[in-house]
Order: sequence, then C-alpha cells, then structure tokens
Amino acid sequence: MDANIVLLPGDGIGPEIVVQGKRVLEAIAAKFGHSFTISEHPIGGNAIDDFGDPLPQPTIDACKASQAILLGAVGGPKWDDPTAKTRPEVGLLKIRQELGLFANLRPIQTWDELVDASPIRREIVAGTDILFFRELTGGIYFGDSGRRPHASGEEAYNEMVYSTGEVERVVRLAAKAAQTRRGKLTSVDKANVLEVSRLWRQVADRVVKEEFPDLEYEVVLVDAMAMHLISRPKDFDVVVTGNMFGDILTDAASMLPGSLGLLPSASLGSDGPGLYEPIHGSAPDIAGQNIANPLATILATAMLLRHSLGLEDEAKAIEDVVAATLKAGHRTKDIAGGGAFVSTTEMGDIVVNQLG
Ligand code: NAI
Ligand code: MG
Repeated sequence: MDANIVLLPGDGIGPEIVVQGKRVLEAIAAKFGHSFTISEHPIGGNAIDDFGDPLPQPTIDACKASQAILLGAVGGPKWDDPTAKTRPEVGLLKIRQELGLFANLRPIQTWDELVDASPIRREIVAGTDILFFRELTGGIYFGDSGRRPHASGEEAYNEMVYSTGEVERVVRLAAKAAQTRRGKLTSVDKANVLEVSRLWRQVADRVVKEEFPDLEYEVVLVDAMAMHLISRPKDFDVVVTGNMFGDILTDAASMLPGSLGLLPSASLGSDGPGLYEPIHGSAPDIAGQNIANPLATILATAMLLRHSLGLEDEAKAIEDVVAATLKAGHRTKDIAGGGAFVSTTEMGDIVVNQLG
C-alpha cells in the first residue's frame, strides 16, 4: 500500500526516538512491500525557536494531508519561561484540535521479563492487557469555567458537559476495538452521582446493545474501577471513559507494567489521520545522550499501522519483535535495573535487524 506518514520529532529526546520509529517503518515497508512517503515537520519548542510558533501552518497542512502522524514529545526547561508568548504544549493541543482527535487510546500491557519492576505483585499483574479509550475533547476540561464572589471570598466552577454524539462516537470506536481483541468492553462512569454520567451510561448501553450485541459489556463506577485496576487488572480488555476519569485512570494504569519507556498511545478522530506517540515526555535530563528507550515510540508505530493503515500483520510483527527483544535480555538504561544496557541506536538496530 502507499501511505503518507508525517513525523513530528519535537524536542528533547523526541528526535532520537522518532528516528528509530522511522527506521522501523522503513523496515516494515521493505519487508511487506509497502511504499511509505515519510516527511518531517517542526512542532513545539524547536518550532517556537525557528518560526515563533509551536505549530506552524505548514506542519498543520502536512498533517492534514497525511494518513498518520508519529510524534516524539514537546517541551523542556528552555521554553518554561512563564512570561513567554506561547508554549510548546500549545502545539500539541492545537494539532489534536485541528485534526478532530477525540479518542485517546492507551494500551497497558505487561512484559513477563519486566514484571518484577511493577509495584504490583507478579501474580496479580502478569498477563495484563488493557486498551483504554479516553474521550479527549469534551467533559470538564472544556466546559464553562470561572470564578465569582462568595461569602467566604470567592468560588470557582467547572462545568462538565457531554453530548449524545460525543459519547456515541468514542463508545463506538472502543466497541470496534473490543471486537478485534477479547470481546469485552467496560464503560466507566459515575452515574450514581453525576447527571453527565447518567447520559453517558444511557448512550453507551444503547450503542452496545444495538450495534455490538456480541460484546461482553459491563459498566463500572470510576471509584470502584480505581480499586479493580490495582486488584484485578487482568480482568479488563477494552475500557472506555470520559476525559477526566480517563486522565486519572490511565496514569494509574501506566504504573502497572513497571516502566514508562515502553508505553505508546494514539489519538484518533472519526476519519483523517491519527496521531501516535509515546506517553512519556521529552526527557530533557537525558536528551542528546543516546540512552533514551525508543521502544514506546516503536510500539507507537505498530499502533499507527494497525489503527490508521489497517495493517494488522505488520503491527503484530513489530510487537512480536519488541517482545522477543525484551525476552532476549536487551535493555536500555531505564529498564536495565543497574545492569548492562544498550544505547538508543543499538536498540533500534536490534529491532530493525530482527524485522529484516
Ligand atoms: P518525562 O516523561 O519527559 O520524563 C520523566 C522521567 O522519565 C525522566 O527522568 C526521563 O528521563 C524518563 N524518561 C522519559 N522517557 C524516557 C525514555 N524514552 N527512555 C528513558 N527514560 C525516559 O516527563 P517530565 O520530566 O515531567 O517532562 C519533561 C518535559 O516533557 C516537560 O517539558 C514536559 O512538559 C514535557 N512533556 C511532554 C509530553 C508530550 O509531548 N506528550 C508529555 C509529558 C511531558
Ligand atoms: Mg495525565
């Protein structure tokens, strides 16, 4: 297949890890006979330095003309000046908005070889394989907000709003993903207290009943979900929830595997390109040292192939190679536990060679 893929390396370790993702995409193209046109564009702090804008218009145009985008990370101390006109993260928020990316996907899986680094006991956490769908463009982060006078000084408020359409589209995406996995969908809300959650549950129940009757479906209250994630994470397959609940639950869940350097994420809209990235940031403390772990970014390329290009075998090939690489004992510094470690580029070499 022909595909147009945009790389947004960004700041800090972003360029070091994205180049390894690029090599993996090239290796996949060669192995499976695809033709990927790959171009690189500025975003974040480096774009502020060069163009005075964290998301220059040519970057937006290139993203909109692509099938998929691989992002490194943005930000760093250099751009933390609170008096600055703009900040690197603005570039990230704006590109998500420009592309209508309303669903954030975060797979949480464990690797047997690393599971002892998890804060949770092996017998509870080993074998965990969850795919979170966090709604990204609605809810309390985007509702009306403000402050007003109050007898005690002032009061502040944030409104939490979800529409039928916003719930339908994210539940539908999550349900489709569940069909391709273990066939189980969990919707998380707070319907015992919040009117917004009562609408969420009503819509989710209807969408699943009418369009996905074969799924094993359950609803769980968010506070209970926080407990279940820690006590029985293996019981979940696909989990769908609103913006704020998803923000908190996915951060908690990201601790289960025992390393941040291995976790990818995706942001999807109804059509158009998806945006794929590692969940970690630009790691300015290790930037330029060739020690960053490129595996989260490499796993993000697998998600890119699966969700934006429909290339499941290719995605699986990458995931299998990453699993084999870890099994063979190759470790970057962050997961070496003080033992011998390979560099960013060496880890890229190992993965690319195994793919070839
Ligand atoms: P961070 O995720 O960049 O780093 C946290 C710790 O994990 C650091 O010690 C770092 O060295 C380590 N780490 C992160 N990724 C790693 C990798 N691939 N290999 C090995 N070690 C890794 O989070 P932090 O320090 O809070 O933020 C640093 C900068 O990144 C800030 O400017 C922040 O705003 C930005 N950031 C950007 C994100 C994005 O672009 N999506 C997300 C989170 C933070
Ligand atoms: Mg967060």
